[in-house]
Amino acid sequence: MIKLKISLSAMLLALATTLSAQVGPDEVIPRPVRYSVTNGMVPSSMVEDAVVISDDAEFVREIFPLDDFARREAYGIEITPGGITIKAVSDEGIYRARTTLEYMKGMGESLKCCTIFDYPRFRHRGVMFDISRNFRDKDFILKQIDVLASLKMNSLHLHLADDAGWRVEIGSYPELCSRAAYRFGKTWEEWSAGGCHYANRSDAGASGGFLTKEDVRQIVKYAASRHINVIPEIELPGHSAEVLDAYPSLACVDEVGGEPVFSSDVCIGNEATFAFYDAVLGEIIDMFPSEYIHIGGDEASKGSWEKCPRCKERMLKEGLSGVDELQSYMIRRIGKFLSSKGRILLGWDEIMQGGLAAGAAVMSWRGTQNGEEAIRASHDVIMSPNTYCYLDYYQDAPMYCPRAIGGYIPLDKVYSYDPAEGISDISHLLGIQGNLWCEFISSAEQFEYMLYPRAFAIAEIGWSPQEVRSYPDFRRRALSLSKRISKRGYNTFNLEEEFGERPQSKEVVSHMARGCAVKYNIPYSKKYPSTGTDALTDGKQGGWSYSNNAWQGFSSDMDVVVDLGEKKPIHYVGAWFFSCITNWVAFPEKMEISVSDDGSDFRSVYTLRREIDDDNLKGSNYALYGVPISENARYVRVRAVRADKPRHEFLFTDEIVVN
Ligand code: ACM
Ligand code: ZN
Repeated sequence: MIKLKISLSAMLLALATTLSAQVGPDEVIPRPVRYSVTNGMVPSSMVEDAVVISDDAEFVREIFPLDDFARREAYGIEITPGGITIKAVSDEGIYRARTTLEYMKGMGESLKCCTIFDYPRFRHRGVMFDISRNFRDKDFILKQIDVLASLKMNSLHLHLADDAGWRVEIGSYPELCSRAAYRFGKTWEEWSAGGCHYANRSDAGASGGFLTKEDVRQIVKYAASRHINVIPEIELPGHSAEVLDAYPSLACVDEVGGEPVFSSDVCIGNEATFAFYDAVLGEIIDMFPSEYIHIGGDEASKGSWEKCPRCKERMLKEGLSGVDELQSYMIRRIGKFLSSKGRILLGWDEIMQGGLAAGAAVMSWRGTQNGEEAIRASHDVIMSPNTYCYLDYYQDAPMYCPRAIGGYIPLDKVYSYDPAEGISDISHLLGIQGNLWCEFISSAEQFEYMLYPRAFAIAEIGWSPQEVRSYPDFRRRALSLSKRISKRGYNTFNLEEEFGERPQSKEVVSHMARGCAVKYNIPYSKKYPSTGTDALTDGKQGGWSYSNNAWQGFSSDMDVVVDLGEKKPIHYVGAWFFSCITNWVAFPEKMEISVSDDGSDFRSVYTLRREIDDDNLKGSNYALYGVPISENARYVRVRAVRADKPRHEFLFTDEIVVN
């Protein structure tokens, strides 16, 4: 047993410290598993003199039942007027303890005397940064690693390759960086609006960048010294337009002319594709020591594979029943390559399509059900569902936020997620990850604004036991931490000014048509049914996102008839519509109101025309189409007509209000 070091000067300082800035373990994110506050306090500077005990018998006995990963990261802390003691059995445990102490020290001048016993709930606690859509450089990544480490996160996933740009140096295929890392259009939006043109680095107006091998070496080293593993992602076989621009021979070819077929998917029939990925992943493996190598696997369109003679020949030769199995063939082959190098293939949940490769791990993003299914098939899974963990979605009322991709995932929604819910075998649940996609995040400031404080919630979900978590308590701590890191130059979302969910969604609207039957002349979309045939007269209105299940979607015009049950005087008809042009949801061009006494013979009353040009509106928007009328009738027909324009695909409304 190592003797405690009692420092007289520290004791005197402890006496002199004021009561006002005392920090206890109840300030820390992620919340420790267990703590108790005892009498007294010490100056925060005493943290530097903390003594480590690695063989405390009681501590060793206490961590014995834990899983290996939790035992490794477990720690105990004792803060007494005589000094600070850390108990841990590994460097990682000591690091986590010091992180807690540094966290408390950063919050105030003196620390409450206390004991802490702590260990993580999950082995994987991370975030993903998309640095393809809008490039972020080494220094920015190092700056974020400081916060991730203070939150006891242990994984940083870098999305290094996508249509919008290749972001890591590869020696064997130099055009990836000299060409596919550059484009015309500084931001993703400009590039996309301009027709997605790539550039050579030397071209006038070329914009972009990539991490050099030296950058990667520094990032990996910096992260490792903070017990954070960096997982590289090289996206394949879809989202690969930048690869095909630099190396067009990897594209599928036309059956007739032999010309490249337009697609973002690489050709799986071509052996050169496998030579390319073996070389690229070989270099990635040399750069990143991560056990897991992420190969993407999501959202391949697969269309070109159906036309390409090389892909068709591959399917025939390998006895593959279709394009799903063709994708699976590629993923399995890449998986074998990675395992021959001692690494594990990790991919988005579409890698399950056509059969999951042996030993592959899955990142569940399309909700949680794919992850649950992979676990039932005994695969390891990281949960990053877009229903809770997508940090590119709005975190507050869209009109008070910079433009985002859509959706609505405020801090309390992230925090409400329990990754273990619905999981049949917890041993295959590796943990949780927040994903920050960056199509609409072009500046460093906006990146941080989207990340913090929601990353705090991801960290606490990953570390703290479910039973000690409480949102009001977490919110209090998240506010303090946000303020602290803002002072250090991070641009966080201001939680104190949070507006919250759409007010209309919080109360039931009472009106004359509430509870009345609705006849659909055109059916609603099966994909966005809300609660079905009662949705438009149930009094429930939509939230900022259509995911609150009150918005009903139409992949057509909307044409409904509300039956008021008997002839009544009608003074008002109205409905809210939702628009998010990037998601092909638009306001109707017009809304026609007609009424009838018998349900078959309708007389036209009023036509409202679209006043807002949503083609140029950014993100999510809401418009009320409502009009006073003066009629006597039993049936009210509301017909909303889409504009004949690109992206005016869906209509969404939440309630037909009649008064
Ligand atoms: C994804 O969001 N396409 C993984
Ligand atoms: Zn092909």
